[in-house]
Amino acid sequence: MKRHLISAADLTRDDAVLILDTAEEMARVADRPIKKLPTLRGRTVVNLFFEDSTRTRISFEAAAKRLSADVINFSAKGSSVSKGESLKDTALTLEAMGADAVVIRHHASGAPYRLATSGWIDGAVVNAGDGTHEHPTQALLDAFTMRRRLVGPDAGIGRDLDGRRITIVGDVLHSRVARSNVHLLHTLGAEVTLVAPPTLVPIGVEHWPCQVSYHLDEVLPKSDAVMMLRVQRERMNAAFFPTEREYSRRYGLDGDRMARMPEHAIVMHPGPMNRGMEITAQVADSDRCTAVEQVANGVSTRMAVLYLLLGGNESAISPAPARTEENK
Ligand code: NCD
Repeated sequence: MKRHLISAADLTRDDAVLILDTAEEMARVADRPIKKLPTLRGRTVVNLFFEDSTRTRISFEAAAKRLSADVINFSAKGSSVSKGESLKDTALTLEAMGADAVVIRHHASGAPYRLATSGWIDGAVVNAGDGTHEHPTQALLDAFTMRRRLVGPDAGIGRDLDGRRITIVGDVLHSRVARSNVHLLHTLGAEVTLVAPPTLVPIGVEHWPCQVSYHLDEVLPKSDAVMMLRVQRERMNAAFFPTEREYSRRYGLDGDRMARMPEHAIVMHPGPMNRGMEITAQVADSDRCTAVEQVANGVSTRMAVLYLLLGGNESAISPAPARTEENK
């Protein structure tokens, strides 16, 4: 039985829909005067952050607290990690403190997987972003936002995002958000197109369940949602485009470009935004941009994930497929 959320690719359609439906229930709690549920009283959630974060860390903290869990926030800066302590010794310390769930963000792709499979800890592991690999709860909150805006909260199982055209634009190469979104959106039946300069398209993208285009203006009129990605300079060790101006001109979203999108289409951004680079202030501040809504939806979605992983509903995350003779 899977007890962890490491990758959006691990989620079946039923898992994803269950999380999104549960998030919808959690969002209703957020509308009440008292926003707290007693569900995880007495359980301990550790936020283990080895990389900078604003939204994701606060969001997981708010989610765990609204479910009445005890929350321990750990950030590598100012901890014994800066004295050279290993992931293993950090994990053993958390285990000794009785962590029921560990939410981990790490600069190394694969660190959450290592934690989940190492035997160092007993609790559930939730990937809050690992290197350039995956960020599954971001993809879930994005899908939740799209479902609310494009389908409506009453969408039944099987109709989720079916046939919706989602365009993901920018630094796909360094984006764990793009990877997780491609997997999850495909699972939910959406058609994904990646738009990026050729230098920022990952090797092997032809095996991903999506299309690739280099022409933003051609794709915009055919998009129900356009997700803009931040240019991740901190992960770049080379020049991937000539100048910022050139990048913005070809791959940035400004008011004129937004006007090419269908009237119902939304603009998304996981944050943090580089205003003036991949998105202009005019677009970021427009009613069509869901960036702030995505943050609010993140709390409900992470409440759903923690609730389903720790609250005892085993159908939340699928069992690993049985190793039969055919699929060995
Ligand atoms: C993203 C991340 O950290 O991967 N942000 C987030 O979680 N809200 C995207 C980014 O840093 O650009």
